[in-house]
Amino acid sequence: MKKVLVTGGAGFIGSSFVLMLRKNRKYGVVNLDCLNYASNLMNLESLEGDPHYHFIKGGIEDAAVVRSVLERHRPAGVVNFAAETHVDRSIDSPDGFIRTNVMGTFQLLEETRLYLEKLPAAERDEFRFLHVSTDEVYGTLGPGDPAFTEKTRFAPNSPYAASKAASDHLVRAYHHTYGFPVLTTNCSNNYGPMQFPEKLIPLMVLNAMEGKALPVYGDGSNIRDWLYVEDHCEAIELVLEKGRVGETYNIGGRCERANLDIVTAICNCLDEILPGSPFRPHRSLIEFVKDRPGHDWRYAIDCSKIEAELGWRPRETLETGLLKTVKWYLNNRKWVESIKSGEYKQWIERQYGARV
Ligand code: DAU
Repeated sequence: MKKVLVTGGAGFIGSSFVLMLRKNRKYGVVNLDCLNYASNLMNLESLEGDPHYHFIKGGIEDAAVVRSVLERHRPAGVVNFAAETHVDRSIDSPDGFIRTNVMGTFQLLEETRLYLEKLPAAERDEFRFLHVSTDEVYGTLGPGDPAFTEKTRFAPNSPYAASKAASDHLVRAYHHTYGFPVLTTNCSNNYGPMQFPEKLIPLMVLNAMEGKALPVYGDGSNIRDWLYVEDHCEAIELVLEKGRVGETYNIGGRCERANLDIVTAICNCLDEILPGSPFRPHRSLIEFVKDRPGHDWRYAIDCSKIEAELGWRPRETLETGLLKTVKWYLNNRKWVESIKSGEYKQWIERQYGARV
């Protein structure tokens, strides 16, 4: 069975991808994850005892670890999810973003390039390095602007977005300079089960369930394009198998919504599922708080390239995806309690203490 090295495979999107690959039984998986605050091995508990799944604790910025994993497991491809991803944290302390997203991607590229040089030609020809990135590299849109295409000029606005843009450029340069077999995907806002509750949707679900304030930045008019995580993972697998080397593919949910509409939809969902909740109507918990500095107003992805070339379409609508997500958080209290440790509590106090 072909093996894929998945980096950041204990994070939200990475672990969904690992579970999907093992469910389909097409690939073995080597998961290299540094186990930072947003990683969670509970996401992967169902893989215990799976002989085609290996976990290694380590960061992509550690060249020696990357080298030994590549040499020991001889993967047929790398899918790079490993990244610091939360915009608010990048505003609070950007240094880790540069270390992981820029230096880490560089080390991973460089070690993989050296590994590839030693492979027999047939294996080298089949090898792929897929870099998972974000639509935030394109900057922000106004109300009437066309959605981001793969040709939209990069204009990253937050330290997070700038660090991902730098990593995308490195990936592109490795292809141009060394003929390194790269693929890049730029996705819109993901949501679904197992997302760390610092991001909008899980934060609002958990706060609303517990009757806490729902902190909407600014006036809540900012727009995001919501993509269900499993739809995203299916797109990544397709790009890995059928994407054209050196190309970039945008992946979006074709689902633009204002933040206030998303929060209201979550509240309505909870009102319905929890008719006996003392916090109904949950929308009464909404509070408008100080805006994020440099807050991008709108993201929207034009995903016609991946639709036309690879035949991908998102399966979930926001309504079906949100319902699944809310139910997952309600039914997985053990997971929820496990992440509400000291670090999460400290972040929430630091981030929202002065805002609300
Ligand atoms: O577009 C893809 C990107 O989406 C990913 O690359 C990033 O990793 C991911 O964090 C996300 O960035 P956003 O900044 O759009 O996601 P976040 O969930 O932090 O916020 C979504 C929107 O909700 C944004 O306009 C800010 C707003 N927001 C967020 C939080 C956490 C609030 O109004 N209140 C909040 O408490």
